Amino acid sequence: MIPIFELTRDDFTISTDPARLDLDLIHRTLSTESYWAEGRSFDKVARAFAHSLPFGIYAPDGMLVGWARVVTDYATFANLSDVWVLASHRGRGLSKFLVGAILAHPDLQDLRRWSLFTRDAHGLYGQFGFTVIAEPEKAMERRS
Ligand SMILES: CC(C)(COP(=O)(O)OP(=O)(O)OC[C@H]1O[C@@H](n2cnc3c(N)ncnc32)[C@H](O)[C@@H]1OP(=O)(O)O)[C@@H](O)C(=O)NCCC(=O)NCCS
Repeated sequence: MIPIFELTRDDFTISTDPARLDLDLIHRTLSTESYWAEGRSFDKVARAFAHSLPFGIYAPDGMLVGWARVVTDYATFANLSDVWVLASHRGRGLSKFLVGAILAHPDLQDLRRWSLFTRDAHGLYGQFGFTVIAEPEKAMERRS
């Protein structure tokens, strides 16, 4: 069992407590606003979060204003997915707080590789050491 991890900055708290997540909000947002999970069912979103290490960003009033999830074996690799900050809270560094907190998680250290996919946020992740795949000929994928 991985202990719950929390970090607070400027009254915003990042927590990995799955019980705090507002899955209705996450599902509604991802399925209607994201370019990668459009139309995804509530069941699929909930299952994906249930089997990932979830990170929520909580405003001072306790409301969920951002999130991400990490798929990992806690030893060799981690994949960062579903990174989101509500439009009302963008442009104030919360996604950088989130990605920094994720990379600082004590059970996600010394991994061989972090991976993620992004259409246009390379400039965000680049600030944390992510680069485009150096040797794409060594990477494969199988898409449905
Ligand atoms: C991308 C997103 C998470 C950024 O959240 P945010 O809290 O507004 O971002 P921050 O204030 O922490 O700043 C992000 C930094 O990354 C940069 N950046 C690079 N690509 C970006 C992008 N596509 N969107 C937003 N910022 C981006 C910003 O310019 C900013 O740089 P700065 O350090 O010079 O200020 C947010 O806009 C969002 O949820 N968008 C919709 C979902 C999405 O695209 N998620 C990422 C999928 S991979």
